[in-house]
Amino acid sequence: MAESALSKKKLDGKVVIVTGGASGIGEAAARLFANHGARMVVIADIQDEAGQRVAEFIGLEHAIYIHCDVTDEEQVKSMVEWTVQNYKQLDIMLSNAGVLSRSDQTILDLDFSELDRLFAVNVRGMAACVKHAARAMVDGHVRGSIVCTASVASCSGFEQFIDYFMSKHAVLGLVRSASKQLGAHGIRVNCVSPYIIATPMTCHVLGMDPEQAEEVEKIFEPNILLKGVALKANHVADALLFLASNDSACVTGHNLVVDGGFLLK
Ligand SMILES: NC(=O)c1ccc[n+]([C@@H]2O[C@H](COP(=O)([O-])OP(=O)(O)OC[C@H]3O[C@@H](n4cnc5c(N)ncnc54)[C@H](O)[C@@H]3O)[C@@H](O)[C@H]2O)c1
Repeated sequence: MAESALSKKKLDGKVVIVTGGASGIGEAAARLFANHGARMVVIADIQDEAGQRVAEFIGLEHAIYIHCDVTDEEQVKSMVEWTVQNYKQLDIMLSNAGVLSRSDQTILDLDFSELDRLFAVNVRGMAACVKHAARAMVDGHVRGSIVCTASVASCSGFEQFIDYFMSKHAVLGLVRSASKQLGAHGIRVNCVSPYIIATPMTCHVLGMDPEQAEEVEKIFEPNILLKGVALKANHVADALLFLASNDSACVTGHNLVVDGGFLLK
């Protein structure tokens, strides 16, 4: 990121929750949010060691790890309430935790137990985070920002991963409806839709190691319009920061695509 952009702290004093902050896009966002002056970044995830490592890397005066399985509404509720009790308010919720399906999920072979497992995280979990963040913001009279991580899968179809594509369309429905319902409280709800990023999630589904991220990027680079750019988690984090901060004060119900022009091709 350009030095001039970093010199302005965009989240000064804000209290932020990042679900799925132990890895990939969530980790990049947690670090960027802390660099931008967030008073506290609460990293909510189920990977305890990785989450703790991210919090320690940021510095424990500005970050904390909390175990929270977003498929369990009670855990989400407690995690949000704990945040408000300890840090007085919640300004920003980044609902980012998500999982990918098996590549062989097509309509002809759809495995519903697999679909239920995925929807529990990508749809129910996402909605639980939006719900409890919104309640905390309404109760605390905070004109907050809620940002979800969707995907280019929110507005396209594909030959495989049908349950994943369905789930990301649902995230868009969640964002569009919640933004209408929360606008009266001054609460903004938006999402970011990345194309493929070489995070552990992607590497895993390709049977590759996260250390092979550059090789993964090379596989997908030809699919994007912008040449000479490898899409990285940091690019997505920049978009998440825009939607989290007052730079997007008048933006709500928006799906910000970060795809290097993939969807235009
Ligand atoms: N990587 C991509 O290509 C890509 C593209 C578009 C959208 N996305 C979306 O970005 C988000 C982040 O994915 P990523 O690529 O950084 O993957 P990742 O696997 O690196 O990170 C996902 C994080 O979510 C956490 N998580 C999973 N289930 C959870 C649960 N039940 N409760 C709490 N945390 C849970 C994981 O432990 C992990 O830390 C997801 O919503 C994903 O769908 C990713």
